[in-house]
Amino acid sequence: MKTIVIAGGTDGIGKALAATRLSGGDTVVVIGRNEVKGKEFLDSAQARGAGARAFFVRADLSLLAENERAVTAVKAQFPTLDALVLCARHYRSARTETTDGLEENFALFYLSRYLFGHALADSLAAAEQGVVVNVAGPGAGLGLVRFGDLELRRGYHGGAALGQGGKLNDLLGVSFAERYGERGIRYVLIHPGVTATSFSGVYDQETRRQIAAMRAYAKPVESALPPIVAAVDSPPAQPLSAFVEGRRIRVDDESFDRDAARRLEAATERILLEHRGQTGVLPRN
Ligand SMILES: NC(=O)c1ccc[n+]([C@@H]2O[C@H](COP(=O)([O-])OP(=O)(O)OC[C@H]3O[C@@H](n4cnc5c(N)ncnc54)[C@H](OP(=O)(O)O)[C@@H]3O)[C@@H](O)[C@H]2O)c1
Repeated sequence: MKTIVIAGGTDGIGKALAATRLSGGDTVVVIGRNEVKGKEFLDSAQARGAGARAFFVRADLSLLAENERAVTAVKAQFPTLDALVLCARHYRSARTETTDGLEENFALFYLSRYLFGHALADSLAAAEQGVVVNVAGPGAGLGLVRFGDLELRRGYHGGAALGQGGKLNDLLGVSFAERYGERGIRYVLIHPGVTATSFSGVYDQETRRQIAAMRAYAKPVESALPPIVAAVDSPPAQPLSAFVEGRRIRVDDESFDRDAARRLEAATERILLEHRGQTGVLPRN
């Protein structure tokens, strides 16, 4: 039986995965900002006789201190982790900043995933086969990445912000695999395809209409699970792999450019240094 952490596991794909893995006998730690949904997860686990294997850590993952508090809590209780599944995201039609002064999509969809992966690497390396499953939107090039304006101060659009976040996660996968591949941790990027979930977000009228239209053809949430479950149970042997709706894609094209990945890692460490008033998360050379 495995121990699985699901960041953004209170709704959508993360929630469905939490329920499935709990039913299968795993220990599941759900991380989310919503206390009520967290309690629902714990109550339903209790009702199914799995209460001792269900955990909820409340944290707003768009905030640096909350990420640090959440990973500290997880590390203290679970020195060995089989899988870290990253599902948290929140669409914003209008550009907003967190109380840390960071653009919200950048903070939640990318930086939180960066912090979680690095902070939990030792726990994942301690497992027989540790894996990070980053559910985002791999592939399709780096056209949406604005290296000179990662926090999208100019010409913000919610869709472009989410799109850029997906590409930043591809590059995160490249850096992570380079750094931890030798320690046996696998990194799997997964595009689930259009799936009828909660579509967590704050939408303008036009985008709300588009989301409603998307729901009509989106697949049910259970259909998004098989590739994620496969990645948790038997990830590919390579340190980095990527899948779009279950189909494996190449990780040696422009989307996964090593120089761009190093550039992003350096920029991320600078941003963390600036916003935390202390070192970033990586050891300094
Ligand atoms: N659904 C799709 O069509 C689709 C397509 C391509 C890629 N994806 C990717 O698949 C992953 C899962 O998507 P989904 O559609 O299942 O998501 P979802 O239903 O919108 O759920 C997002 C999850 O993130 C949590 N979250 C949002 N803001 C948070 C915050 N500040 N702190 C902590 N948790 C927060 C939500 O919590 P609350 O319960 O509090 O809202 C919820 O649990 C995402 O990374 C997404 O980019 C989805």
